Formats: sequence, structure tokens, C-alpha cells
Amino acid sequence: MSSRRERLLERDAAHVWHPYTQHGLETDFLPVAAARDATLTLTDGRELIDGISSWWACLHGHSHPRMVDAISAQLGELDHVLFGGATHEPAVRLAEELVEIAPEGLSRVFYSDNGSTAIEVALKMVVQSWLHRGEPQRRVFVALEHGYHGDTFGAMAVGDPDPFFLPFQEMLFEVRRVPADAAALRAAFEELGDRAAGFLCEPLIQAAGGMLMQSPEYLREVRAICDAAGVPWIADEVMTGFGRTGALFACDKAGVAPDYLCLAKGLTGGNFPLSVTLAGEATFEAFLSEDRGRAFFHGHTFTANPVGCAAGLASLAICRDESTPAKLDRVGARVEARLAAAFDDGGASRDLRRTGGIVAFQLPSAESGYLASAAPRLRALAVEHGVLLRPLGDVLYAMPPACTTDAECDRIADAMLVLDAAV
Ligand SMILES: Cc1ncc(COP(=O)(O)O)c(C=O)c1O
Repeated sequence: MSSRRERLLERDAAHVWHPYTQHGLETDFLPVAAARDATLTLTDGRELIDGISSWWACLHGHSHPRMVDAISAQLGELDHVLFGGATHEPAVRLAEELVEIAPEGLSRVFYSDNGSTAIEVALKMVVQSWLHRGEPQRRVFVALEHGYHGDTFGAMAVGDPDPFFLPFQEMLFEVRRVPADAAALRAAFEELGDRAAGFLCEPLIQAAGGMLMQSPEYLREVRAICDAAGVPWIADEVMTGFGRTGALFACDKAGVAPDYLCLAKGLTGGNFPLSVTLAGEATFEAFLSEDRGRAFFHGHTFTANPVGCAAGLASLAICRDESTPAKLDRVGARVEARLAAAFDDGGASRDLRRTGGIVAFQLPSAESGYLASAAPRLRALAVEHGVLLRPLGDVLYAMPPACTTDAECDRIADAMLVLDAAV
């Protein structure tokens, strides 16, 4: 162990509290010194391929020169300014560009700074607009089993409480949870009647729930059912947005438009904490009044931070110039093909599946769920094979950045096969 690594880990152990970490069991953290393209470099010089885009954020690759330039330039020009009562070019331009590429009808952009807050904003907009429309009883959201939408209280409420949110369950507001099928959604709205506030889902892929994939047809049914019930549909594209599914947005693959669209992670190429909630003009108008009490009372210190917005603009330009969704699709296809060739049955018994740049399969393990004890051992094994992977319980997946080369894709697939053989 190099002394630099040792010192970093000791200092970390003295003062740092990590996310989603049981410090009583996990003490060995990866000491990362640098990142470039698809590669993370550790303090002892070892290199790892970032097989999961560092929590699904890194879109193009680490430290893309255009991202670095855009962020540095903006930092020197206008670093930060409040967004209440002020505005600036990067925020306005990013809003214009997002409206241009977003599914039809989404013409208003509300900024916040992470995926969870983008969800909070959408939920609060729905609740308050029902109030303004004279239907205050519409308070119950319908959401999917195995859904995950973030860790703040509203986002926890609409997420599946098992296993992450059980300690907080009593404090979460009422949500009707349904499996991802049209009949269940229809039945939930029928049962709720005029108590239904809206529906929220991760379109095409429920990520943290185990990379569960839906057909585009399901989204078309969702659109029709929400229309028939007269309630809004919130699409949580925090993970799927900006090309992960092979299309710019998952909703595009189904040819449908939600009423609210939540975006984060890849919005800034995964370089900067920024998120947006897009809504339609009718929602915006439901808040217009001469009464200040009808404003949307939500905001964060770093709402529409100019550096974040500049990162968003640079990332969108790269998406256009480098055809990021198509590149991600090719990366996913390469990983999937190598896995399919290695499994005797082409991966059928492991439910090998892919949507765009996301490839997943079930590990042949009896232990399922995020808290499966094998996960830390499997993560360490992947590191030994030069790849960063984090199984979701018994689901092993890859979601590499768009710059990942064919050789790197093969190494990711090979490491996944090592983990598969090791359980
Ligand atoms: C679909 C989805 N929604 C929301 C979130 C929450 O985003 P954040 O971690 O930025 O708060 C995540 C995070 O993984 C996610 O996958």
C-alpha cells in the first residue's frame, strides 16, 4: 500500500461519512486521484475503467476538454449570482436549448441542483397547481413498485421504501404503488377517483430498482391512461436523459411527451450538480396571479448557477456534435454482444437485457436485493480486474460513458463475467 493512499484513507476514516455506506463493514475506499475519458486513476497508480459512469453521471467521458474549457471560462466571467430577481445568459440559453430538444409541450424550465430536488419541484408543482385549480383534495400520487427517485422526503415518498427508506416510512406521504402494467395504473386511478394527483415513473428503465426495463408501448399506455384520468404524468429522466437509452430522452423512444420532465446527472455531462424540472405553459399559468401567495415558493442557493448552466450548454453541444446517444448505444451493444457470446444460452437464463448504453443481467445468486452481502466482495473483485462496477444486489450492470473504446467495453464485459463466475 503506498503511503499516499494510506494517509488519505486514514484521514477519510477520521472525519468523512460516505453515502450509502455501512462504515461498520466497509472501511476500504477507492482513493481516486484523477479521471480522464473512461479511466479513473487511483493514488497508487492503478487504473480502473468507469463501468458505471460514476453513479450514471459521466456522460461523454471524464474531463472532456470542451467541458473543462466551458466551465473554466464561465468561472472567470460570472461565477455565481442569485436567481431570485436576477437572470443571466447561460441560464436563459440553456432553458431555450432544453425547450428546443425536449418532448413537445414542455416550455418552462425550473432549475435546481440534483435529481432529488428536480423531483421535489415536480411534486410540489403538481400539488400546488391542483390547489390553484380548486381541487385541493388531489394529493395521492401513483408510482411504480421498485421505483427510485432520490433521497429527499418527497422523493423518498414516491420511491419504493424497501430497502432504503424503511426508517422514514411513517413520515412519508400517501402514495399508491403499482407494478409497471397498464391495467394496474388504470385500476389505481379508478380507485383513487378525485384524490389522484398524478403519476410518476422512471421511463423505460427503473434503474436503482435493478435495471428493470419496460417497453415503449407501456409509456404510450401511461400517456393515454393519465389523459383519461385527467392527471399529469411526471417522467423522471434523471438517469435516462441525454442519450442513455440510445435516444436523447426515453420518452422520445415511445414518441410521447410527459407533463413534467425531471433531468439531472447527464444534464451537465456529469460534471456539475445541476438539475431542471420542465413543465408546460398551462402549469406556469396556473401560478400567474397578482397574489404573491400563489407564487411557486421553491428555490435553492445555487439555483441556475451560471457555471452549471455553462456546463449544461457545453454538454448539449457535445451531444449534438459527437452524436452521444448513438455512441452510448454502440457501447451498450458491444458489451451486450460479448456477454451474450460468453453465456451458453446467449444470456437468456440470466435475463441479459439492454436498453441503449445500459446492459444488465441477474447474477446466479440466491441472495437478492440491494443489501445483499456479496456486493462489497464483488465490487472488490471488479477492481482487481481493472473495472469499477457496483452490483445492485443480484443485478450486475454496466453503464459506461460514451467515449468508452471497444477494447474497454470488452474489458468491462470480461470483468462482469468474472463476477458472474465468482458468486
Ligand atoms: C431515476 C433517478 N431519479 C432521481 C435520482 C436522484 O438523483 P440525485 O442523486 O442527483 O439526487 C436518481 C439517482 O440515482 C435516479 O436514478
